[in-house]
Amino acid sequence: MLHTGSDRPAGKPMRVRKAVLPVAGLGTRFLPATKAQPKEMLPIVDKPLVQYAVEEVGRSGIPMAIFVTGRGKDAIEDHFDVSFELEHQLAGRGQRELRRQIRAISALTQMTYVRQKQALGLGHAILMAKDLVDDEPFAVLLSDDIVESRVPCLKQMLEVFERYGRSVVAVQKVDKRAVSSYGIIKAHPVRDRSWDRRLFRIDDMVEKPAPAKAPSDLAIIGRYILTPAIFQELAATKRGAGGEIQLTDALRRLLVKEPIYGFIFEGKRYDAGDKLGFLQATVEMALKRPDLGERFRQYLKSLDL
Ligand code: UTP
Repeated sequence: MLHTGSDRPAGKPMRVRKAVLPVAGLGTRFLPATKAQPKEMLPIVDKPLVQYAVEEVGRSGIPMAIFVTGRGKDAIEDHFDVSFELEHQLAGRGQRELRRQIRAISALTQMTYVRQKQALGLGHAILMAKDLVDDEPFAVLLSDDIVESRVPCLKQMLEVFERYGRSVVAVQKVDKRAVSSYGIIKAHPVRDRSWDRRLFRIDDMVEKPAPAKAPSDLAIIGRYILTPAIFQELAATKRGAGGEIQLTDALRRLLVKEPIYGFIFEGKRYDAGDKLGFLQATVEMALKRPDLGERFRQYLKSLDL
């Protein structure tokens, strides 16, 4: 695929002030657990998936989270709201530390909500946030993907965006056999000493290729910094695989007009949208918990595996 545009934009790029969190999917892989509750509220140990994502937004210095919600997702709004009754009861029982933690959730970042009336795909969900994002670059986080890292994954990506001023997608090397579960990029490395062998300029991307047809082993994961030009491309993107408006299709259209970068972030990512990935995240994150880790380790050791 041909693309135009130089590696660097003319001036300093606009600051990223908004993060879009699409949470309107049906969560079919977790049925029946997701029949009456949002997948994004499933907890890893004791914290819902979506809270990990919102904390990453806050820790990356982005002041506003825009949730794209749908039917049956009210629990997410409630989770990030102030709960006076609960706080009052915790205070009454002398559980002040827990009360403080509960109050802190609603103060993580400023939050707004927009509705996706039908789950027509990730691309469609992002398009629903167009009026709230306006003409600014913005981040997208899929709460299925939890990234544990010293510097938040999104913050690492913002540093790339600040230098290049173009869309940045997070990628990770995956096993050849796993490529058919991801969007895979075809790309060439960018020479930049800050991100030696971790920054790529994307030439093309393919959604869920067969291993033999995959152009690389670099898979796109659920973290993006996008320029507002994506909205025009999303609006022009027809329904693709699964009858859904695919973000990858819109990104391919954008690629014709402006460069897009792929960035191998530092950190460990868990695919909590998949049952096995969810269990792996649960076990590994529980083992790291100071209040739980040692007892859990002893328990796992006692299992006759
Ligand atoms: P997934 O591809 O994981 O889909 O969406 P899903 O519906 O959540 O789950 P499965 O595959 O049926 O089990 C990735 C992210 O995009 C959001 C989801 O909520 C999830 O955070 N999404 C997906 C939307 O907001 N709207 C959609 O129409 C589709």
